[in-house]
Amino acid sequence: MTSMHPLELGVNIDHVATLRQARITSYPDPVAAAVSAVAGGADSITVHLREDRRHIQERDVLLLQESLRVPLNLEMAVTRGMLDFAHKVRPRFCCLVPERREELTTEGGLNVAAQVPRITDACAQLHAAGIRVSLFIDPAPAQIDAARECGAPAIELHTGAYADAGDAAARGRELKSIQQATEQGLRLGLHVNAGHGLNYDNVHHIARIAGLRELNIGHSIVAQAVFVGIEQAVRGMKQLLQEARSP
Ligand code: PXP
Repeated sequence: MTSMHPLELGVNIDHVATLRQARITSYPDPVAAAVSAVAGGADSITVHLREDRRHIQERDVLLLQESLRVPLNLEMAVTRGMLDFAHKVRPRFCCLVPERREELTTEGGLNVAAQVPRITDACAQLHAAGIRVSLFIDPAPAQIDAARECGAPAIELHTGAYADAGDAAARGRELKSIQQATEQGLRLGLHVNAGHGLNYDNVHHIARIAGLRELNIGHSIVAQAVFVGIEQAVRGMKQLLQEARSP
């Protein structure tokens, strides 16, 4: 399946900052990486300001918001501190994610269905600051209904289970649930994005899902950048998205 919409690529540059924080140096600078990612065709730049500040720092977010010529998408936990920070920075997009200190990466979607009043309130606060919210959720019908109930204009479907599937049958099942979740989101009038664990080998079938508007990809692009530079790594991923959407 293809879509009339071009599929946008949001490039997550967290792991440029991971490399910097490994030695607490001033390099590599994620802001400079963002400039190269945009030169390679990134439609937006994503960063996750984690509570433990293990990679992206507040300074990075502030500089990116000041200097980028594409939208900044700030991923964040639903906490008072992060909501206040988002209010101060006013990025174009905020993606609300679950966060556990001990996790290696964001391991599952936000359980929106279990906390509708709290997420509704966060969405309203961000909306009032002119920020467009998306909720990072598993491709599960109850979560998509709950996202709609909270008033979020957009969702990002967690593709981690698809990326981690152990065999073709499991991968097929995960792909189907992402397709169905996309259709459900579109029926409810939501803007549907996807991401997590996508790489140059597994992105094709996700990119072909009709109606998906944006993929957010980080780790695999930064890893490829070690060999070819970030501009070329982004260009390569953009090309795969374009090929997947060609008739
Ligand atoms: N989308 C969201 C909401 C995420 O939390 C992450 C990881 O920070 C990504 C996309 C990108 O995942 P990956 O680094 O595996 O491409």
